[in-house]
Amino acid sequence: MIWIAVGVAALALIAGVLWWLLFITEGIYLGRGAVIWLYDLYAGRYDNIKQYEPELEHYFLAHPVLDRLPHVAAPLVLDVATGTGRLPLALLEQPRFQGRVIALDLSRKMLAGAAEKLAPFGARVTLLHHAAEYLPFPDDTFDLVTCLEALEFMMEPRAVLPELVRVLRPGGLLVLTNRQGIDAKLMPGRTFRHDDLARLLRDDLGLDRVVIDAWQVDYRIVWAYKPGHAPPSGPRDLAEVWRCPHCGAVDLIPVAGGWRCLACEQHVAAGPDGVIEAHAVAESGRPG
Ligand SMILES: C[S@@+](CC[C@H](N)C(=O)[O-])C[C@H]1O[C@@H](n2cnc3c(N)ncnc32)[C@H](O)[C@@H]1O
Repeated sequence: MIWIAVGVAALALIAGVLWWLLFITEGIYLGRGAVIWLYDLYAGRYDNIKQYEPELEHYFLAHPVLDRLPHVAAPLVLDVATGTGRLPLALLEQPRFQGRVIALDLSRKMLAGAAEKLAPFGARVTLLHHAAEYLPFPDDTFDLVTCLEALEFMMEPRAVLPELVRVLRPGGLLVLTNRQGIDAKLMPGRTFRHDDLARLLRDDLGLDRVVIDAWQVDYRIVWAYKPGHAPPSGPRDLAEVWRCPHCGAVDLIPVAGGWRCLACEQHVAAGPDGVIEAHAVAESGRPG
């Protein structure tokens, strides 16, 4: 009898650990491949699980972001870990937003969902299958860089933050989220204490006007500006800012089925849904 009880307890323990590893912490303690595999698996259900309400997205996301960019009528935006395109959609639906969005994610299936939703906005949004750890853009490029509800799912969020700051132009706005509440406690080492994050952004990364506001039950929102001033980038084409994943040159032109680099003559494919397949190339040999 005792052995049956021990067996049941052991099975319950294993089930609990698996539940925690796969569902509560979404694979983060199993490595990046597990995280992305799970997002690919759930991509078709992601929007139903999240239930984002358009009015709330406008009120709590698009308007506060645009209110903080008052002098940039047509910003160039980079959304890192865009998922199914939440941030691009919220911005592009605003008549006062005249800019362009480049959005990237490592889950190809999440991007397929984004591509479908964002198709009506044509060339104002570009989707890249690419990791957040190395951003394929020159320094000081974007007027706005965002990374929402994603840092805690990256293996090294502290290494990703300087990368987000690097591609932000002086005077540009960085918008992040920081997880809080019970879920944050269940993923030790993956989230920041709010005051630690503010200190890191201010003291280590040199950002100005760092503010962490209440936002959602599970997340606070973080606003910070890169010090200095450079003229707004404006709604530039991808070709003007995207570094070739083969050689690192900003010299790509659109061709049938994807893009071609004029510097190294290599091809980068785009899927039938328009998503640019830069990830495999970038991972096989990162330009310096
Ligand atoms: C919770 S979703 C958030 C998506 C979107 N930002 C939103 O607010 O709805 C987290 C996203 O991070 C992406 N992600 C996780 N690790 C990544 C990495 N290293 N590089 C790029 N994307 C990553 C996942 O594929 C997933 O789409």
